[in-house]
Amino acid sequence: MTNPTITLHDVSFVLPDGRPLFADLNETLDATRTGLVGRNGVGKSVLARILAGLQPPTTGHCARSGPVHYLAQRVTPPPGSTVADLAGVAESLAALARIEAGGAAGADFERVGDRWDLRERLQAALRRAGLPWLDPATPAARLSGGQAMRVALAGALLSEADFLILDEPSNHLDRPGRLALIDQLRAWPRGLLVISHDRRLLGDMERILELSPQGLRRYGGDYRFYAERKAEEHAQAEQTLARRKHERRREEAALRQQQERQQRRRARGDRHGKQANQARVLLDGQKERSEHSTGKLRRQHAATRERLRAANRGAADSDLRMRLAQLGLDADTIAAPRAALSGGERLKAALACVLYADPPPRLLLLDEPGNHLDLPSLNALETLLRAYRGALVVVSHDDAFLARLGLTEELTATDEGWALTPWHPVERDRS
Ligand SMILES: Nc1ncnc2c1ncn2[C@@H]1O[C@H](COP(=O)(O)OP(=O)(O)O)[C@@H](O)[C@H]1O
Ligand SMILES: [Mg+2]
Repeated sequence: MTNPTITLHDVSFVLPDGRPLFADLNETLDATRTGLVGRNGVGKSVLARILAGLQPPTTGHCARSGPVHYLAQRVTPPPGSTVADLAGVAESLAALARIEAGGAAGADFERVGDRWDLRERLQAALRRAGLPWLDPATPAARLSGGQAMRVALAGALLSEADFLILDEPSNHLDRPGRLALIDQLRAWPRGLLVISHDRRLLGDMERILELSPQGLRRYGGDYRFYAERKAEEHAQAEQTLARRKHERRREEAALRQQQERQQRRRARGDRHGKQANQARVLLDGQKERSEHSTGKLRRQHAATRERLRAANRGAADSDLRMRLAQLGLDADTIAAPRAALSGGERLKAALACVLYADPPPRLLLLDEPGNHLDLPSLNALETLLRAYRGALVVVSHDDAFLARLGLTEELTATDEGWALTPWHPVERDRS
């Protein structure tokens, strides 16, 4: 026997309603016993049918070294079918009967192959499946859904196919049935793909494939290896989430403080107090957020161009390009994903998305915005901030920069707490 293989070449599938299920899958299944996992509804059953040749992909193609036996997740026996039909051995049993009656058709001999004892093997498989009272001619309509599944599974294990694809085979089995299935699959000598959530069953596989909206991912080792990798990935994701939450809480606390201070000032009749609500932005060179368009700006991996477009749908392309050029962001930079940008470029991109947003944020909190910027960018930032009409709170040790922003008040940390005093640009302007 040649090596059993099934190969996916750029396989994509789009549902009838136009929803893409997966795209550009490339993978080779071979004699390595493989488990396929993935969330409900991600497309495992559709992929299994494509692998089995029962369903053409929307694009790409799938090549098989030989016949594939597919056991569907649900079996619905057609009217008039029998236990032999369900088990997938009806034609082989019929060929066997013709040979036994003296027939000599080559096709019949080919179909039966080495399985001269097929009838006995089916009976034994039905006994093992806990269904000893069935025989090949029993009408399938007499079986419950679970019984029909067990007959189909018993038949699948009798198949001579190159590849066996089982779609959630243990769902209808009780504990002894599941253990028996594992034993039987150990004895299966050719290609095997098992779709399952059953850890014990997956634990018997040599390789795990995971289907997700991002595609097929291959995990080198067995299920335990997969589970460990997943646990690591999960822990990393949790960490990132915790860090983001922490940052967000800090930003919110800073904003609340600022709002309280401004409210106190307004209570004292101070006309410099500016309303700060709804919109808020904090920039510390690594992150940006605007309550108006949080969802859009959170698309961290999108290119600056797309993020800017999302923040300001009305602006003309030429205008945005010109403004980005002022900040030293050229066409290549704004087309690159965020991850590919340097710290300074990220800051500029973040500033651009915030300062050119429509509507603009009503309060801007800047934490050392100049730290990553080259001089031309710093000049551009100063110009932008002078033109910005909302409330501005900026933390900086760069007096020259501060002097150019048209500030009106100064907030200083003292031993008695925060002190808000009028801004004295002359004393500080050393430029
Ligand atoms: N023939 C079909 N027509 C319309 N939608 C389908 C069809 N087959 C599958 N789907 C949809 O495709 C998605 C994936 O289904 P499926 O492959 O059964 O997922 P899984 O086996 O991973 O749980 C589901 O949203 C399902 O409703
Ligand atoms: Mg399924």
